[in-house]
Amino acid sequence: MFPLQLLTVFASAALLVSASPAFKDPCCDTSAAKLDLPSNQNALVTPTTAPLFVTLGVGVQNYTCNASTLTYTSIGAVAALFDISCLDKTPVFAYIQTVAFEFWSALPAGLAATSIGSKMGAPGLLGFHYFVPSPTGTGISPIWDFTSTGKFAGNSSAFVIGSKFGDIAAPTDSAKNVDWLELKNLQGSLASKIFRIDTVNGQPPTSCAAGSADISIKYTAKYFLY
Ligand SMILES: *[C@@H]1O[C@H](CO)[C@@H](O)[C@H](O)[C@H]1NC(C)=O
Ligand SMILES: *[C@@H]1O[C@H](CO)[C@@H](O)[C@H](O)[C@H]1NC(C)=O
Ligand SMILES: *[C@@H]1O[C@H](CO)[C@@H](O)[C@H](O)[C@H]1NC(C)=O
Repeated sequence: MFPLQLLTVFASAALLVSASPAFKDPCCDTSAAKLDLPSNQNALVTPTTAPLFVTLGVGVQNYTCNASTLTYTSIGAVAALFDISCLDKTPVFAYIQTVAFEFWSALPAGLAATSIGSKMGAPGLLGFHYFVPSPTGTGISPIWDFTSTGKFAGNSSAFVIGSKFGDIAAPTDSAKNVDWLELKNLQGSLASKIFRIDTVNGQPPTSCAAGSADISIKYTAKYFLY
């Protein structure tokens, strides 16, 4: 995108976000929020119920270099999760992940993903997505943790650990944008299903040199929790 077009997008997004009074009180009605999945696949299935939470994830995907294959392997991720339920009836909803990524990628190193919120009219921070030792006893598992911030702060049950159930390549530019996923509940009472869609960036380079350091690649995505 060219800077001017970008500015217009930012300005209109900021306008629409700040014009949304419900952002002062996170968690608007999610019943009309639409999980838009590609029709030419059946790996991810739209639930018949309304989502409980509609969030924007802003963070990094982490990778380590496998010295024998000389390719990057995922070693987790960390992201801030903003409530975007109040945007679902606005045009910005369709491209909020792109606007957020432009802000996020332009942010100097060391500045936290949480500072993106204020740039977009301070959408409520609902929680964090990261990885924990898997409850299965093997490897790590993704968690969506709302226990420390937002309306569930202090509620130790407000998390869900997921296990991957369905996985498709991002419908556009899949070499750059991470896969779209469906995960099911492995532990926790926050949600029974999690979807990652509308991904922007996050894929590692196609190869690495032996001994390269671990890398973190910035990304944004929508996470729908059911
Ligand atoms: C590197 O990749 C190979 C082949 O997929 C695999 O067997 C090995 O466990 C990987 N090494 C590490 C450290 O993950
Ligand atoms: C991912 O990398 C970031 C630094 O870029 C770090 O803060 C975070 O702990 C890492 N998380 C995992 C699961 O590797
Ligand atoms: C705590 O969070 C869980 C999971 O979202 C929810 O079911 C429960 O109602 C919450 N408890 C309170 C007191 O808000």
